[in-house]
Amino acid sequence: MYVCVCKAVTDTQIREAAQGGARTLKDLRRDLGVTRDCGRCASCAHECLREAQGQMGKPVKALRKAA
Ligand code: FES
Repeated sequence: MYVCVCKAVTDTQIREAAQGGARTLKDLRRDLGVTRDCGRCASCAHECLREAQGQMGKPVKALRKAA
């Protein structure tokens, strides 16, 4: 499933990034480019990362809301 349409990033790629050490949305942005264009994928990408980290038993950083 596509999580970020603008950058054509899938949930599988996010899981792989998590397995490779991505811990935050910022890491996904750097590694995969998610949220770089329209930004609408932020919450979905974060949820996908959280699920991947939960499956790996790693702690999850909370998504910071924009002020
Ligand atoms: S859907 Fe990810 S930046 Fe637009």
